[in-house]
Amino acid sequence: MAIALVLLVIVVGSVLFHLVTPWWTTPLASNWKQMDDTLTITLAVTGFFFVVINLFVVYTVWRYRHREGQRAAYEPENKRLERWLIGLTTVGIIGLLAPGLSVYADYVRPPGDALQLEIVGQQWQWRYRLPGASGKLGGSDARFVSAVNPLGLDPADPAGQDNIVILGNEVHLPLGRPIKVLLRSHDVLHDFFVPPFRARMNIVPGQVSTFWFTPTQPGRYESLCAQLCGVGHPNMRGFVVVEDEATFQAWLKQQPTFATTLAPAPSTGARAGSDALAEQGRSLAQTKGCVACHTVDGSPGVGPTWKGLFGKTETMTDGSTALVDDAYVKAFIRNPQARAVKGYAQIMPKIDLTDDELAALTSYIRSNGSASIDKAQR
Ligand code: CUA
Repeated sequence: MAIALVLLVIVVGSVLFHLVTPWWTTPLASNWKQMDDTLTITLAVTGFFFVVINLFVVYTVWRYRHREGQRAAYEPENKRLERWLIGLTTVGIIGLLAPGLSVYADYVRPPGDALQLEIVGQQWQWRYRLPGASGKLGGSDARFVSAVNPLGLDPADPAGQDNIVILGNEVHLPLGRPIKVLLRSHDVLHDFFVPPFRARMNIVPGQVSTFWFTPTQPGRYESLCAQLCGVGHPNMRGFVVVEDEATFQAWLKQQPTFATTLAPAPSTGARAGSDALAEQGRSLAQTKGCVACHTVDGSPGVGPTWKGLFGKTETMTDGSTALVDDAYVKAFIRNPQARAVKGYAQIMPKIDLTDDELAALTSYIRSNGSASIDKAQR
């Protein structure tokens, strides 16, 4: 009897909770209303069976409860009942699977005039590529990946020269135009997800996965990685800015092409000052993903904070100590697996950097203050 009552409360509570919950989905910002409809159908089917089955259990527990002098009848076979149950279950399963399959078929078949957007996932950052004036994306291969060519684009492919390369985590898209997304991963399984678009797809290393969507609302939407891809996973966030065509084209013009990213950076004069170098290092810390694990405000991260790092004496996991200076920082970045700082897991990935980039990044880390100066100021 108590069991029957508890079940009844669970059923009524669940239905009420669904009706009054404040946790609804975000407003839809793409063409994929079908995703919401499919979810609604799934919820209706599973909700219906949840209520019916539990109320049936409540009824039988109450109706056939133990009473003195009564004996249960044994009836192992009932062909008519079994046919009904098989029929109902079949209809329910079809109702669950069919809408999803039909939406998925549309989801991976982009319209022919769709704008191509390549998204490359890497522990723990996003990079993007858009076609240039030719409208084509050039070929890529893992063996072309280097510090100056992080997307691994084929330098010999003429179609790739005018491609727009975006090494930050924010990409802009034109409003109302279908976007065909091509997903690549440099290392492990990631998943690109923009909740208001209802669009997401796993990114499997070694293959290009694809889906499409049409942004229907202007705005700045947060994108996130939806597969646990390592310790920096929660930091793997980005932004998709949806704006009108003219604003998008203006933004596009400001972005570098693959050909310009390959050209050697203009050498700044020897006395151009460490400010420019540190500034270059700051943007490297962003694009190379360092900021996923290292803060500059002193707050704890996955790795040591860069605030006041220089001049500190760090204790290693093997008990040895080391003074943090230029040589220490450079050696650590070049070979992060050689040793680990006590209190931190040995998980820093090796990141490809040219010597110039390493110098810039080190200069930026130094610009966040040094322990000895801090002490002197106190
Ligand atoms: Cu990439 Cu989680």
